[in-house]
Amino acid sequence: MVVFFNGEFLEKENVAISPDDRGFLFADGVYDVVRAYRGRLFRWQEHLDRLAHGLKELRIEGVSLGGLEKIAFQLLKENGLEAAEATLYLQITRGATLRSHRFPPQGTIPTVYAEANPFTPPIELRKKGASAIIVPDERWGRCDIKTINLLPNTMANQRAFEAGAFEAIFARDGLLLEGSHSSILFVKDDALLCPPLTNFILPGITRNVVLSLASTESISVHIRPCLENEVAEFQEILMLGTTSEIVPITKVNGISVGTGVPGRIARKLQSAFRRITQELKSRS
Ligand code: PDD
Repeated sequence: MVVFFNGEFLEKENVAISPDDRGFLFADGVYDVVRAYRGRLFRWQEHLDRLAHGLKELRIEGVSLGGLEKIAFQLLKENGLEAAEATLYLQITRGATLRSHRFPPQGTIPTVYAEANPFTPPIELRKKGASAIIVPDERWGRCDIKTINLLPNTMANQRAFEAGAFEAIFARDGLLLEGSHSSILFVKDDALLCPPLTNFILPGITRNVVLSLASTESISVHIRPCLENEVAEFQEILMLGTTSEIVPITKVNGISVGTGVPGRIARKLQSAFRRITQELKSRS
C-alpha cells in the first residue's frame, strides 16, 4: 500500500514516524476522513475547511492544505482505487521535537500523513438499522475540532460494542450531542431535530448535506437542543457520518425507537443521499 508521508509517496511499511512526534506524545494534531465515490472526492472543500479550522484553533502553522487534493488523487491512483469505493485518511500533527509541553521552536515542520483505503459500504446496517447506547460525555471542551485525541470516543465506542450496540451517543447535562464517531439527528412530530452546533459538537459534513437534503425533500427541520429525557418520544433517530452516510438507530439502551424499524424520514433521506452520490459517480 502506497501512502503519503511528509512530502513523499512510499510503501506504508517504510514510514518511520519519530517517537518525538507530538501526535505520538500528546495527540497534538488533527485528522479528517473523506469518502471517494469511484474516484470522486465527496465534499472535499468542506473537509479541507474543517481541517483548516482545526489547525487554526490549535495554532499549527506551516501546512499548505492546497496541495492535499492532488495528493489524494495520487493515492487513489497508486493504490488502484480510482474507480472504487474508498476512503481517504488525512492527519497533520505539530511535528517532531524533544518532548516539552510548550509549543516546539518556530519553524518545526508539521507532520503530514495521508492514506487511501478500499471501502465496503455498510449496506445491511443502513437498511436494517443499528442500536446505540447513551453514555456520559467525558470529552474536552473543543469537540468542534477534529483532533486525533479520541480516547473518550474510543472508550465510548468500545463500551457500545461490549453492550452489543454499534454507536455510543454522548449526553452532557441532559443534552444529547453526537455519537462517538457520528452526528446524531432525531425525529419528533414528523420534523427532523438537530442539536445546535456548539463547542461540544463536531460540525459534521454529512450533517450539513442531510440538512440541505431535508429542505429539498420538504422535511421540516428544527435546530434545537435535544434532551436525554425525550428519547421515548422520538419517532426516529439517525446516525450520520462520512462512512455511515445515514444509519437509522432503531434501539437505544435496549429499547426500540419508534416502531423499532428504520423510519420513513430516514429512508427518504437515504434515497436522496444515494441520488447525489450516484450523480457524483456518473459525472464524467
Ligand atoms: N468521524 N462527530 C464525530 C465525533 C465524528 O468523529 C464524526 C466523523 C462525525 C461526522 O462527521 P462527518 O459527517 O464529517 O464524517 C461527527 C469520522 C468519520 C471518523 O472519525 O472516522
